[in-house]
Amino acid sequence: MSETAKRVALIDSGKGLLPTAKWIHRLAPEVEVLLETDPEGGPWGERDPGDVVERVFAMARHARDHGANAIALACNTASIVAREPLREQFEPRLPIIATVPAVKPAAARHQRFAVWATATTARSEYLEDLISVFATGRDVSVVGSHDLAAQIEAGDEAGIETAVQHLVAETPKDVEAVVLGCTHYPLVSDVIARHLPEGVALFDSAEAVARQTLRRMRIAPSADVAAFAADSSFAAAGVRRADELEWAIRHHLD
Ligand code: DGL
Repeated sequence: MSETAKRVALIDSGKGLLPTAKWIHRLAPEVEVLLETDPEGGPWGERDPGDVVERVFAMARHARDHGANAIALACNTASIVAREPLREQFEPRLPIIATVPAVKPAAARHQRFAVWATATTARSEYLEDLISVFATGRDVSVVGSHDLAAQIEAGDEAGIETAVQHLVAETPKDVEAVVLGCTHYPLVSDVIARHLPEGVALFDSAEAVARQTLRRMRIAPSADVAAFAADSSFAAAGVRRADELEWAIRHHLD
């Protein structure tokens, strides 16, 4: 990697950082992306929050020592538990960008929707506050999953189907939309869409987090993304394919 290039580190327990990484790559291909994952320690949604904070701090220090100009928490769970202590420690020198479940855009368009997330995110005060601020008067159901992120991480197609079926079973039948409040979930948006009634909209935060990251890094995003955004085959499902992963692997420093 060149000395002058802008470098951002993305932090997640695992594959959940890929949708955000891909958006950053698409919007600003000149930005170097450092992928910080925790294969030994995931899934984070089931771990003690203090433990997650410690692991995220170790990864943030690693990213700083490898020349990151910004750190994006491409993970809802880590954002909830670690965003404030990280900002205290690293900002203003190193901007910390957090992922927020897409409750606000969903509430702007829909009356009844669900938020799917890990257990930690689902029971967090942070999500409760987000809903009360941005979804007043909306009918919002929060549904936690104990294992969808783990099944996605393992690439277990049968396990993914079963975990999605459990989430659908706990979601009111008349929702108009589902907010994917775990960054792993967009990777299986095709499976999720197949199990939900036709027309249910899916919301995730990857593009918004990528754009906010570039703003904090003072990098103008490419304007030429209309075709990309409209291409539903992108829907991150493609990121599961090995050829889609290649560029990401090449950008990993270690
Ligand atoms: N991708 C993470 C999130 O957005 C967490 C997955 C996990 O490790 O439990 O919450």
